Amino acid sequence: MHKVVLDMDPGIDDALALILALKSSEVQVLGITTVAGNAPVEVTSANARRVLEYLNVESIPVAMGAANPLNHPLEDALSYHGPDGLGNCGLAMPLTPVHAAKAWDFLARLVLDAPHEVTLVATGPLTNVACAFERYPELPGLLAGLVLMGGAYGLTPYGKGNRTPFAEFNIWQDPEAAHTVVKSGMDILAVGLDVTMDPAACLNSQHLEQIKTKQTQAAHVAARLVEFGIEHRGCCRMHDPLALAALLDASLLDFISAKVEVVTGNDWDRGATRILPPDSSRSVQVASAVDGPRFVRLFLSCILEE
Ligand code: BDR
Ligand code: CA
Repeated sequence: MHKVVLDMDPGIDDALALILALKSSEVQVLGITTVAGNAPVEVTSANARRVLEYLNVESIPVAMGAANPLNHPLEDALSYHGPDGLGNCGLAMPLTPVHAAKAWDFLARLVLDAPHEVTLVATGPLTNVACAFERYPELPGLLAGLVLMGGAYGLTPYGKGNRTPFAEFNIWQDPEAAHTVVKSGMDILAVGLDVTMDPAACLNSQHLEQIKTKQTQAAHVAARLVEFGIEHRGCCRMHDPLALAALLDASLLDFISAKVEVVTGNDWDRGATRILPPDSSRSVQVASAVDGPRFVRLFLSCILEE
């Protein structure tokens, strides 16, 4: 059983990752920290709670984090995720309040109380994680691991940017935060566009029909989210669920051990993630291939379980 904190910016695919985590018997979600990214942080915080309340797990705390990237203004992705950030899925607005603590303090408390037991799965810009590492320098050494969705590493034909031709959205949004996190030296699994854009790892209309046959709350909300993706782009990209799946079953992916550089600043290559020649500094495990059909099966079997 993995004790997990989800740091996210829901976001259609973040919400699908959250549902996957909640339905997986191998994961215990200790809490959610929310960050600005796909939408302003008030919206991502509301969206996390909308999903939790719909699935009757509102006891899971949601701690709000950074409203802006460290050095740049927020440029959200509501044009991609729909005006409410969740593809107009129709979930009610939340009744439960956010947790009293800020995201980084909330995360630190959980990790300090259970050293080496908590894994962080980060599927948004890395602002909260960088803030946590700066305020609590012991944190990287006390986490059980960090799995992140971010980057485009040129390891497959799909490993090109999506926010710019050179950069993936999460890393582009806050490259300074990503730089801090990568430099922290902790064990990192990075799941980037090289694998999440593999067409075999996307959901199509046949998968949607399968989800629609189930009359559970989880299947109902998943269907609404997936349908929005298919209607607007022909298939539903599964960036963030694939990052979570790396924790559930790492054998779904191949990884290479690489030294990664994040391009900071605001030049044409902002947010690019480059693989450098090896040196003495710590490597990141970067996903280089995915068994898409097996991932989709794992996702559907979890989501469709009663
Ligand atoms: C990432 O960007 C966001 O829009 C998605 O939620 C995902 O985390 C993909 O580049
Ligand atoms: Ca995300």
